[in-house]
Amino acid sequence: MTTDPLVVFTPSGKRGHFPVGTPILTAARQLGVDLDSVCGGRGICSKCQITPSYGEFPKHGVTVREDALSEWNAVEQRYDDKRGLKPGRRLGCQATVQGDVVIDVPPESQVHRQVVRKAAAARAITMDPATRLYFVVVEEPDMHSPTGDLERLERALREQWQIEAVTADLSLLCKLQPTLRKGKWEVTVALHKGHKDNVARIVEIWPGLHENGLYGLAIDLGSTTIAAHLTDLETGEVKASSGLMNPQIRFGEDLMSRVSYAMMNPGGDHEMTRAVREAINDLVTSIADEAGIDPALIVETVFVCNPVMHHLLLGLDPVELGQAPFALATSESVSLPAREMDLTTMNPRAQVYILPCIAGHVGADCAAVALSEEPGKSQDLVLIVDVGTNAEILLGNTTRVLACSSPTGPAFEGAQISSGQRAAPGAIERIQIDPVTKEPRFRVIGSDKWSDEEGFEADIATTGITGICGSGIIEAVAEMRMAGLLDESGLIGSAEQTGTSRCVPEGRTHSYLIHDASAEGGPRITVTQGDIRAIQLAKSALYAGARLLMDEMGIDKVDRVVLAGAFGAHISTKHAMVLGMIPDAPLDKVQSAGNAAGTGARIALCNIAARAEIERVVREITKVETAIEPKFQEHFVAANAIPHKTDPFPELAKVVTLPTPSFNTGGDAEKTGRRRRRKA
Ligand code: FES
Repeated sequence: MTTDPLVVFTPSGKRGHFPVGTPILTAARQLGVDLDSVCGGRGICSKCQITPSYGEFPKHGVTVREDALSEWNAVEQRYDDKRGLKPGRRLGCQATVQGDVVIDVPPESQVHRQVVRKAAAARAITMDPATRLYFVVVEEPDMHSPTGDLERLERALREQWQIEAVTADLSLLCKLQPTLRKGKWEVTVALHKGHKDNVARIVEIWPGLHENGLYGLAIDLGSTTIAAHLTDLETGEVKASSGLMNPQIRFGEDLMSRVSYAMMNPGGDHEMTRAVREAINDLVTSIADEAGIDPALIVETVFVCNPVMHHLLLGLDPVELGQAPFALATSESVSLPAREMDLTTMNPRAQVYILPCIAGHVGADCAAVALSEEPGKSQDLVLIVDVGTNAEILLGNTTRVLACSSPTGPAFEGAQISSGQRAAPGAIERIQIDPVTKEPRFRVIGSDKWSDEEGFEADIATTGITGICGSGIIEAVAEMRMAGLLDESGLIGSAEQTGTSRCVPEGRTHSYLIHDASAEGGPRITVTQGDIRAIQLAKSALYAGARLLMDEMGIDKVDRVVLAGAFGAHISTKHAMVLGMIPDAPLDKVQSAGNAAGTGARIALCNIAARAEIERVVREITKVETAIEPKFQEHFVAANAIPHKTDPFPELAKVVTLPTPSFNTGGDAEKTGRRRRRKA
């Protein structure tokens, strides 16, 4: 039996005996304990911090004496003086084993640390990115044994990090020699190795120890908005989140109008490709600026997007996606250098990964939702709806997962709405309407106070009240329905019918006035009949898509609904139900998951195993094509009423009693009649 001291690591519980004098980092490596190191144990990166525990540990069967580790040394003192080590911490590469010891590896010292997501029922992300930093000491050149600098760097990586082979492109080679000399033969390299790569690629090289971090972008490229999360590739922390409108809107608001633009205008697809790439380049610059980092430190980008955006981003003609059988150029995931896509504002050797598409109408964004929400691991039957200009819908459990997408149009994102705007400071995001007085109160992005609360005016002094964003319009329409300002068919009543002067005539229809600053030259924010119609079309498409999947599954009730969307942090589940965006379910079983597609992109950015996993999962998902399914139209028409013409909503009725006014006094009915007569 060995008399060597016992080293027990927590939280892993891994243990082993090691000779006196073994560095803790060496012990950790031999046991496969997850302890980080960038400098390879040279005492300069501080990634290997550990916390020894002293005293009695009956659970582990050890007593740890005060002298169980070697004494605090000069390297640790130097680091502590320069940067400060938390009390009780040691550097794992410096502290050596002297006796039995229990070592805790704090989360920030774990390579595969878990990043907990904020959302309810969050799935933690395990850090295992494709790009990592390695510090190496490279042998100097020698006239007597001539080798290239790159070959000696390769040898150093092999000997010091057991990395067998690397490649470097010409632009990297150009900076290799000056960097090695500047660093006095000590350099840090960023190596990228994707889940399908056999050889790692040198993405960047810095003289000495690089301490300014490494970053990646997770981008949810939607038809209307582009949302990006700048993520620290070492910690998984989101440093900044930013978004902008997709400039392709000027070529067509929805996907099919963009496909038609490409069909009708020679070179139109290239124009749209150029526009979106330029916007992404600008977004990279602005998000890096916001986070205070050099954009050249962004070495990876993961995109999730619908099939049309996917093709336009890659510079592929989307024409085939506009007609049956909706063939994709490729449905596989795509990995390529960012510069091939003219993404020039990030690191020049940055790498792009695009998640696989599920089918011609069901894109990488839906795959990202599946990665984030994992319907295939759910015991109960879950319906996941990702609301955007194109809604991604998944239905399934451990036995089977179905997916479709539904063309909701941009109304849910505040576009095509008279006072609509992107979710930005000044936008109304929440609204309540008093059912008795019919008076509204609201909250705008940038203030946590309601409009009738003290301090609201001061809060919004700089932003003002500028419009209504996606979550705001959903609440506004649902609140109008609950307050009796809107009937089941979606008609807004007149002032006489509703009893409020806020219902103002507008042509042959009515609008509901939320806020009027026109006297001071500000905006007049209303919900018009046209807005209601746009929301009805959007929500009917969403509901019809969900119903189609339920038909395919042979059910008419789901156990649970997850509502996700790129706009706003949360969509109000109650209001979504009142509107009839989603099928009836107990309200406590309807949950909001924030931007699930964006989260899926972040997971794929931080963990390469997740990329392999989603590529496998996508192959097992059954696709349902809404565009050619005759029942879609039937479901769509029935879903036009608020909440629904024929489907009962018993769970909703338990929490909300909807008034039953009818404002159809001829206006809209007359128009419909006229339209019918004209057709005849
Ligand atoms: S491994 Fe870098 S300081 Fe210990």
